[in-house]
Amino acid sequence: MTTRLANRAAQVLPWRLDCHVAAGNDRAAADELRRGLSARRPWVPARWFYDDAGCALFVRITALDAYYQTRTEEALLDACIGDLVVSHAPTELVEIGSGAARKTRTILDAMDHLGTLTRYVPFDISPGAIAVSATQIAAAYPGTRVHGVAGDFAHHLARIPRRRAGDRRLVAFLGGTIGNLEPRGRRTLMRRLARRLRPGDALLLGTDLAHDPGVLVRAYDDPEGVTAEFNRNVIRHINTAFAGDADPVDFAHVALWNARAARIEMHLRALRPIEWSIAGLGIVLPIEAGAAIRTEISCKFTRAGVEAMYADAGLTMTGWHEDDLGRYAVSVGTPS
Ligand code: SAH
Ligand code: TRP
Repeated sequence: MTTRLANRAAQVLPWRLDCHVAAGNDRAAADELRRGLSARRPWVPARWFYDDAGCALFVRITALDAYYQTRTEEALLDACIGDLVVSHAPTELVEIGSGAARKTRTILDAMDHLGTLTRYVPFDISPGAIAVSATQIAAAYPGTRVHGVAGDFAHHLARIPRRRAGDRRLVAFLGGTIGNLEPRGRRTLMRRLARRLRPGDALLLGTDLAHDPGVLVRAYDDPEGVTAEFNRNVIRHINTAFAGDADPVDFAHVALWNARAARIEMHLRALRPIEWSIAGLGIVLPIEAGAAIRTEISCKFTRAGVEAMYADAGLTMTGWHEDDLGRYAVSVGTPS
């Protein structure tokens, strides 16, 4: 379903939002979720983390001491963005999985400073997150058009607005979100993003790197328990969208390092036998005590791996910036 939340009073809301997601319960999403939950090894698509409550919890994660990724990425952006905008002089920023769009300010500031910034396009599965960030960004950068697109990056990239003549585009995909996809989905998404780039455009990518498993696990299982709450919110979100009846407290948060696949995996493990009735999906899910539902993967990369990913998508890696501890990297890809 496609709805356009038209701007009834552009002077009050100086931004627009094209919404291609229904309240989370459109047919395709329901089918995918039913398939996942009914699989021999049950899993849930990651989009189920990100309702308004989930987005708010994720913002808390980004401020956690244990979650080094956000502050590291921000510092790397700070250090590299000046040169990048000078060399590409982008007129617009398209951000995939923009979320609260805090780090985005670093990029917009650099473009604004250069005087080239005309448009910001946040793309996210959460219309609520776009509405909040678009309001703030439109107010902070008067004269810049803000055109949000609420959609699934696996389905709706074609809904990103066309550029006008002379536009040069910077596409940002931050937060290590590319690592939340399986290798196949990751390749497909990278190729689709790459296909939309023109000479002079650039892709700015944030990737978490494979390093100390202890540090990695802690980033996804913080002592404050915010990540555990974020994980359990998946149950609440599904309950709300599809009239489900499971109690989130019956699930334990599990984060583990899968060395073979170089990824962190998040699970919800049943603390007792559960019969999860989900009326809107037409299923009753029996879950044995100790059984787990996989809710997320977060793949960790090497420099060679990221370079190969660009090459596969038809891009050349023209920039690589990693922190001194070798934990995180921001890289740049340009059409070959
Ligand atoms: N860029 C922000 C947020 C990263 S969290 C940061 O770096 O802090 C991942 C973001 O991707 C969330 O805002 C989530 O809503 C969005 N997201 C997750 N799955 C998505 C999908 N399938 N399509 C579009 N956006 C998605
Ligand atoms: N893109 C983020 C990451 O992989 C998403 C994330 C952070 C996340 N913490 C999480 C997803 C905890 C699920 C659970 O780092």
